[in-house]
Amino acid sequence: MWVKEMLTLNNKKDNLILKDITKEDLKDVLNLYNQNDENIYATGIDRMMSLRDINEKYLEVLVNSHEFFIGIFLDKYNGLQLVGVIKGRIDYENSEEAWISSILVDNRHQRLGIGTKAAEAIIEMLNKSYDVKRFYIGIIAGNHIGRCFWQKLEFSYFRTIEQYIKLKTLAEDFIILKKEIS
Ligand SMILES: CC(C)(COP(=O)(O)OP(=O)(O)OC[C@H]1O[C@@H](n2cnc3c(N)ncnc32)[C@H](O)[C@@H]1OP(=O)(O)O)[C@@H](O)C(=O)NCCC(=O)NCCS
Repeated sequence: MWVKEMLTLNNKKDNLILKDITKEDLKDVLNLYNQNDENIYATGIDRMMSLRDINEKYLEVLVNSHEFFIGIFLDKYNGLQLVGVIKGRIDYENSEEAWISSILVDNRHQRLGIGTKAAEAIIEMLNKSYDVKRFYIGIIAGNHIGRCFWQKLEFSYFRTIEQYIKLKTLAEDFIILKKEIS
């Protein structure tokens, strides 16, 4: 039996509910990840994901008190609808630093400010509740939308890791962006 340890960052912002992904959500999460080609930028895996892949990712987070895997839900009259996920961790050695390893918003709900609201809420919670001061994200160099998204949230260039990942036979650089809250 797995003991649930993961970092809990539940919150409500306007019509969005942020809450830990549970085992029951995993099929919906899988559908989100497999929705289209762009999502390889969130997963770093250039193939369709399987339920087994997603279960493994989930278990890694579940037993780890530094990691979070949050669902972004819309509060609908007939219940909660999963429209995105955001995943990351507080650094093991330096608890003033956190990594947001991926964010993904359902295609049909993109460009409505959902990603921005969710990322802002997570950053605020990590800062207020856990005293995190420096936030890092990494994006694959070809992900222009991702870069625009994080730059609009005031993340700025930190460094590049060259030829970091192979996606569709092309070796891509990984660009680290950073935001500091004083
Ligand atoms: C990146 C992503 C999470 C953005 O989510 P979203 O909810 O659509 O984002 P928002 O509506 O809050 O957009 C905020 C800003 O991001 C930028 N942006 C978002 N989508 C864009 C697009 N299709 N084209 C250009 N800029 C875009 C814009 O600057 C936008 O501000 P604006 O609408 O005022 O111009 C979403 O596009 C996604 O899931 N992409 C695939 C996975 C991925 O690349 N994740 C990021 C790397 S981990």
